[in-house]
Amino acid sequence: MSTQNTTQLTITRPDDWHLHLRDGAALEAVVADTARQFARAIIMPNLKPPVTTTEQALAYRGRILEALAKAGGNPAAFTPLMTLYLTDNTSAEEIFRAHESGQVYAVKLYPAGATTNSDAGVTDLLGKCATALEALEKCGMPLLVHGEVTDPSIDVFDREAVFVDRVMKPLRRAFPALKVVFEHITTKEGAEYVRDAEGPIAATITPQHMLYNRNAIFQGGVRPHWYCLPILKRETHRQALVDAATSGSPRFFLGTDSAPHARGLKEHACGCAGCYTALHAMELYATAFEAAGKLDKLEGFASFHGPDFYGLPRNTGTLTLVREAYQVPDDLPFGNTTLVPLAAGEALAWRARV
Ligand code: NCD
Ligand code: ZN
Repeated sequence: MSTQNTTQLTITRPDDWHLHLRDGAALEAVVADTARQFARAIIMPNLKPPVTTTEQALAYRGRILEALAKAGGNPAAFTPLMTLYLTDNTSAEEIFRAHESGQVYAVKLYPAGATTNSDAGVTDLLGKCATALEALEKCGMPLLVHGEVTDPSIDVFDREAVFVDRVMKPLRRAFPALKVVFEHITTKEGAEYVRDAEGPIAATITPQHMLYNRNAIFQGGVRPHWYCLPILKRETHRQALVDAATSGSPRFFLGTDSAPHARGLKEHACGCAGCYTALHAMELYATAFEAAGKLDKLEGFASFHGPDFYGLPRNTGTLTLVREAYQVPDDLPFGNTTLVPLAAGEALAWRARV
């Protein structure tokens, strides 16, 4: 199909396979944005304290649906797919309990200290987590990986590429049948590894890593709303990610990594990592796919490859994007403060009709 002059694009309803919803007032402020565009979302467990047990995950799931109803959304039309936060002490029993709950769909690996709220993360994956990994492999539940080493001697721009060699390859050699999602890949090395590796591996790609290179963080001064982890990389890496996402390969799918932080915590002497994209996720992805001349590949990336990898049914509803000028708001209400979305104040050429 030619999408050159497309003015409207209707796709199967998409899902977000990597999302931070937070809790309390923040949760209530953001959850309806995701539910407007997506039927399901994989909910990251990096709360304070982290979601490490099935019991906590089920309680959090309840709070998400409650917050959605309070925010005027329809809890019947949105399914939070819960995850557990892997620690050095996660037991095999906890993994089996999670799997049997029918509401927990994955376990997330944060190397200790790699990103926001990762202090309780894993210090030595193969040394400390072998029984949990075995349990995951056995029940076919994916391990979601924040793929950055935390070694302070490794340059922050190289931490993903080094992770591939130091952690990802040994992990997958030790557990070849383990389903792994390499989350929010940001490099050519990450994309090529996922494209070429054997066995059950896939990757999510965020809108910001498809749209921007690292110059965006420094354009005219330090721009904290473009700071996320893993950090934006060089243009060559951005191009590799666009190629991967638009290739049609079922190994690459949508995960916004939308990660809201109050404006004051971003515009700060030690600003938090994370870009807020849940508001306009599909508009951002459509912009990136169109720029690559690959709008026809958006539906597979957004709506098919994710559920296929997780072994879940594809959605039955649809989402329509129309070519219509859309101005990203300067900020949004966020509890008793505000939240600045990615590309605030800029004009996009697509709008999701919701
Ligand atoms: C995420 C957050 O704020 O929770 N931040 C981010 O920059 N992506 C954590 C994460 O996914 O690394
Ligand atoms: Zn994330």
